Amino acid sequence: MQQTDEPRTETRSAVRFDHVYKAFVARSGGSEPVLALQDVTFDAQPGEFISLVGPSGCGKSTCLNLIAGLSGPSDGAVSHHGSPVRGVNTSVGYITQDDNLLPWRSLRGNVELGMELRGVERRERRERAQEFIELVGLSGFEDHYPHELSGGMRKRAGIIRTLVYDSSVVLMDEPFGPLDAQTRVILQAELLKLWERSRPTVLFVTHDLVEAIALSDRILVFTTNPGTIKRDYRVELPRPRDPFRIHETPGFSELHDALWDDIRAEIEKSRERGSS
Ligand SMILES: Nc1ncnc2c1ncn2[C@@H]1O[C@H](COP(=O)(O)OP(=O)(O)O)[C@@H](O)[C@H]1O
Ligand SMILES: [Mg+2]
Repeated sequence: MQQTDEPRTETRSAVRFDHVYKAFVARSGGSEPVLALQDVTFDAQPGEFISLVGPSGCGKSTCLNLIAGLSGPSDGAVSHHGSPVRGVNTSVGYITQDDNLLPWRSLRGNVELGMELRGVERRERRERAQEFIELVGLSGFEDHYPHELSGGMRKRAGIIRTLVYDSSVVLMDEPFGPLDAQTRVILQAELLKLWERSRPTVLFVTHDLVEAIALSDRILVFTTNPGTIKRDYRVELPRPRDPFRIHETPGFSELHDALWDDIRAEIEKSRERGSS
């Protein structure tokens, strides 16, 4: 009972950004640093699926890199289960647009890699890998090498390779970016199925607003550079969701229109500044 009225505390958040700023030395060699993130504050509760959307260059990838500890904030704090992220954070799973499969390892070998590095015993590794391979319909391809798989298959392999070791926080940076529209929707449905099994906290970067709605509990809209959070939408559509029919769900159109208005305003702003 108490739980529902309890204020959200830092220790209960899976990920928390507290007035985070991130400046980079300009790539173009100019003397002024580029402010990528400005005063970003949000928290992700355990099990929440959150999408980050906004114009290119607004700092979405930078947010994920801060959680992964690949770089540190210039000001403010980023924490993971209540502790500040210091150095590379190996307890989060990170899936990027490139599948990064090792070409000399079979599909099974790639899926087992993370578990191998974590010292999971061989039998358990094999069983778990097989379970996930079956879940995404890749049985029969276990011994195939990445170059023998389609783009969609490689994507699936990259995703299950990370989800198979049950990180409580998973970062995904435009994971379905290069795929065709049909394959994307199939993979969205598979991702939801996998996510429902263990409900990790997911921070998911996408340009696709329909995808963001289909997958997320919340959608954070970022402003054009420097990135700040313009809006934090709660997606109230019921679960389980069917990405194939998400546009027919009551409430979808209103949310899609509102998101699109926000994004369009930001894109126009960046055009006016001549920076896009
Ligand atoms: N390592 C870096 N060095 C210099 N500038 C960077 C670096 N990483 C990102 N930036 C700059 O920070 C801003 C945000 O980048 P990024 O997080 O990649 O945006 P997004 O993922 O939203 O497209 C951009 O202006 C980008 O050029
Ligand atoms: Mg990016």
